[in-house]
Parts: sequence; C-alpha cells; structure tokens
Amino acid sequence: MSSEDSDDIVLPKDDEELHTRRDKYKVAKMLGKGGYGAVYEVIRVSDNEHFAIKCEKATAVKKVLLMDSNVMQGAKQISSKHFCQVLDRAHVRERFNFIVMKLIGKNLWDLRVDRQDARFTLNTALKSANQCLIAIEQLHRFGYLHRDIKPGNFAAGRKESHEHHIIFMLDFGLCREFIKRDENKDIRAMRASAPFRGTTRYAPLSAMLQKDQSRKDDIEGWLYMVVEWTSGGLPWRKLKATDREKVLQYKQDIRAKPDYLDDFFYNCPKREFKRIMDYIDTLDYYQVPDYKFVHFCVQHAEKANNCKETDPLDWDPDTPYNGPKETPGDGVPITYERLQKLDIDQTIEASKRKGSVGKQPKKGKKAQTPKDEEKDKK
Ligand SMILES: Nc1ncnc2c1ncn2[C@@H]1O[C@H](COP(=O)(O)OP(=O)(O)O)[C@@H](O)[C@H]1O
Ligand SMILES: [Mg+2]
Repeated sequence: MSSEDSDDIVLPKDDEELHTRRDKYKVAKMLGKGGYGAVYEVIRVSDNEHFAIKCEKATAVKKVLLMDSNVMQGAKQISSKHFCQVLDRAHVRERFNFIVMKLIGKNLWDLRVDRQDARFTLNTALKSANQCLIAIEQLHRFGYLHRDIKPGNFAAGRKESHEHHIIFMLDFGLCREFIKRDENKDIRAMRASAPFRGTTRYAPLSAMLQKDQSRKDDIEGWLYMVVEWTSGGLPWRKLKATDREKVLQYKQDIRAKPDYLDDFFYNCPKREFKRIMDYIDTLDYYQVPDYKFVHFCVQHAEKANNCKETDPLDWDPDTPYNGPKETPGDGVPITYERLQKLDIDQTIEASKRKGSVGKQPKKGKKAQTPKDEEKDKK
C-alpha cells in the first residue's frame, strides 16, 4: 500500500464528522497536506461556524501538534494578533490526532502566485514584511525560533472575519525553544552542529552549513521571502530542494559579487534591503537582533517609494489598508507560566459568544498544497 493509499484510509474524508469532548465538526475541504498529516476546513455542527483542524497521523514519526499547541499557547500569553489559538483537540483512535483553531485565509505563497506577474506590489510586500517581522519578534519573545520561515507559513486572515489585513504566522512543527526554562531565561548553548531543518530556498546560511540556528536566522529567512515577494522570484528559484550546495553557493555569491546582488535585489528597494542583509550578517548566535532597526529600514523603503499608510493590499485593492499599527518589541524573552494542559475551555466559550461568521464552502474544491519550491510560475 502506498503512503497516498494509507492517507486515504487514515486521514479525514469530506463530510466526515469528528467529535471532541465538547463539540462535533464536519470536514469541509482539505487546505494543505504534509508528511505528518493534513490541514482541513471544518464546520462546527452546533452553530455552523468555520474552523481549521490540523491532523497528525497516529503513525507520524515526527509529532508536530504538540509544538504547534505549545507555540500557540505562548502567543496567547502576549495577546498577539498574528497567531491562531488552539480551541479544541481530540484524537481518532488508530488514525490521527487533531487540534481545532481559527480558520484563516490564503497563505502568502498562493496569494503571490495568483497574481498575474507573480509578485506583490512594493506596498503590499513591505506592509506584509513588517507584519511578519512583528510576528517573528513576538515568537522570539516567548522563547521559540521558527526555523521554517517561508510564504506558505504565513497567511492573511479571512475577509468574512474582517481579518484580511492581518497576517498570521503558521506551522510550528520545526520550532525550537532557544531559551532555558530557568529564572534567568539564558540562551541554550550553541550546538557544535545541527541537522538541516527548513526549506532550502529560504533557509539561512547557518542552516545550510548545518550550524545551530538562532534569532537572526529567522530574520535572514524573512529577507529571502520578502525579496521574493518584491522581485517575483529568487535567483535560485529553478534549483530543487535537493540542490542545497548550489543554493548555498548562490547565497554566498550575492554577498560577494555585485552583479549577483543586483540580480537578487531586482525590482527591490536595494539600499534598505542591503542594509538589512549587512546588519543580519554581523550578528552571531547569541545576539538579540535589533528588530526595531530592521522595521525602520522597511519603513524607510516605504517612504522613499511613496507607499502611503492607507495604500491597499493587493488582495483587497478597493479598501484602504487598516492592518495593525505596531512596532516590534525588543525580542527579549518574557517569563510566563507554561500550561501543562491545553487551556481550551475559556477560549472555546469566548469563540461561541462571538457568534457565527463565515460562508458555506464550495464542495469538492481541490486542496491547495503549497510546495514553495516547485510551483513557481517563473
Ligand atoms: N488555521 C488555518 N486556516 C486556514 N488555512 C490553514 C490554517 N493552518 C494551515 N493552513 C493551510 O494549510 C497549509 C499547511 O499548514 P501548515 O501548518 O503550514 O502545515 P505543513 O506545512 O507542515 O503541512 C498552510 O500553508 C495554509 O495554507
Ligand atoms: Mg507549512
């Protein structure tokens, strides 16, 4: 039996009803699929409200749901706007475990490739860049590195929930706690080497060189993502995930050869992006990045290119931008009580009080599986 066949048996089917201790959810459609399991849109039977569930096969070797839940709990501690909350969870015996969370909209990979020229306007790229940077700083503030920063792991909220100007961070399966859980919250000592984690196209040099990753590396991945949004494609876009050596060479060449740098920054605010890259390259494993400086460079690029505060996002061209007005914090880890058990009771009650949002899904719509290294149009 192939793994596709076994997925068909194990993973939820369209219209299947899934039960948790407190609710029933009907499966509407698949939203994405990975090696561990898949993500689905579901409808809560009691009030027809729409949610997302992430399922992890009972046989999955790498358990991602626990990390997903821990990180989302951390986000709740600082009341971040950029993370979903875990609302419920359960397991279906011998098939899968699942968590229920807020349903959000399309990921930033799909939003970009849906566009005719496969790139965002500078205004959208820079506004999205700043929101993602704030999400990264917040994640670091509650003690985690993401280690797989890429467009498929960020998504806009749903229009139906009036959240489509907010960008959410997703997918914490590769996260790592970088601080010790002691009073001092010291940084864990750097490991002599670390196996490659992440996605070749966006992976920072450290990951590619199998060095232990740190806060600056999430920002390096963020920069590759933002350049891709702005330019429409990275110079190494045609290389496969397995061509890690060649992609590494490209990432070194853009730092050493001016013509490679020009190609990399095609159509980008070169001065500001170069300042960011040079700055990241000065940081070492233990340093706290100056998120405010990076944010300032992006804002500078906005001003220099006449992007106004209310200029609309590409996926909502007729409405003035009204995303969150935030500046990043200092990235210094906070102390918070880690819950042993998911604190779902309060959250689920709050979500019910808010009432129903959302429309019926179209049946039989094909799943969007982001393959950030294969599906590029260019
Ligand atoms: N809460 C959610 N609401 C809507 N779509 C989601 C949600 N969570 C994930 N997705 C979609 O599913 C895709 C895969 O989810 P993700 O958590 O990134 O898992 P993985 O990449 O490990 O398969 C995302 O790129 C996104 O398009
Ligand atoms: Mg993902």
